[in-house]
Amino acid sequence: MDKMESTRYRLIELLKTTDHEYVSGQLLSERLHISRSAIWKHMKELEKDGYVIEGVSRKGYRIVKSPDKVSENTLQWGLKTEWLGRNIIHRATADSTQRIAHQAARNNAAHGTVIVADEQTAGKGRMGRQWNSAKHKGIWMSIILRPAITPAAAPQLTLLTATVLADVISEVTIAKPTIKWPNDLLINHKKTAGILTEMQAEQDRIQYIIVGIGMNVNHTADEFPVSVKNKATSVKSETANEQPIVPLIQQLLHDFEQAYDDFIEHGFSNIKNKWESYAYRIGDTIRIQTNHTEIEAVFTGVAEDGALLIHTDNGETQKVYSGEIEW
Ligand code: BTN
Repeated sequence: MDKMESTRYRLIELLKTTDHEYVSGQLLSERLHISRSAIWKHMKELEKDGYVIEGVSRKGYRIVKSPDKVSENTLQWGLKTEWLGRNIIHRATADSTQRIAHQAARNNAAHGTVIVADEQTAGKGRMGRQWNSAKHKGIWMSIILRPAITPAAAPQLTLLTATVLADVISEVTIAKPTIKWPNDLLINHKKTAGILTEMQAEQDRIQYIIVGIGMNVNHTADEFPVSVKNKATSVKSETANEQPIVPLIQQLLHDFEQAYDDFIEHGFSNIKNKWESYAYRIGDTIRIQTNHTEIEAVFTGVAEDGALLIHTDNGETQKVYSGEIEW
């Protein structure tokens, strides 16, 4: 952040913490060590980014409306993280934020860099699928991470991300999300968000991981393509409430940072428990079609390596890594 940006950042912080009360120009000028006219200039810049600020003589300034226009600035103002999203790359249109993230990571972008787009023209899903990313309708975002963990532990980060998305949806909305193994976020049995984790690694060392998050937020039911209509939904469709995108991303980044720091410090066990508490159909009998056979077994949880744990009729616990599951 350059000096100007950091002043504006602190200005927003000061205005936001007083919760719609007026903050005097005098106080702002003292706290920020700049003149009253410099403050006024900063206010004009904030208005360009969509803030509505009221200035009343002898009372001071207050924020009447925060913008829901995603930009590097609006995301950073009021962002409560230490390291995540301190470097943000925002694009109105991107082919895929994953591709931009890979490119940035190859060019040494820092751990915690976030790439976010208003729309994607070639959004990527898992297993080579397309990911529909309509303009302003959701969160289309990739996070660059450089964790000192082994490549084998990388799937834990995907499970971690799923728990973070479930937490955010529960905190911000009235919806009750579940996680369908390995990492689909569902509301009322329909997919609301997905995660695509990609890694660049040597044998035993990760160069970087890109965690791609796609969350359907403000679509109405008829805004999904016919091909996914029966399976996909959005937060708005399930709660009847439009969600502003900027605070949602800020909450997501905040919760992600907390979960990630906890994971690096204490390991996977907290995440495993949380994942299982959100798990779709845990304890139910499910049917798994692998290459050669079809198994019927009770879904009991998730293993440290990200595998699905099942309990078969003959009393064995098995790990399942892939296969078609009939839920
Ligand atoms: C899935 O198949 O469930 C994963 C979907 C991941 C979509 C996100 S949107 C942001 C990032 N950029 C992409 O091209 N894909 C991921």
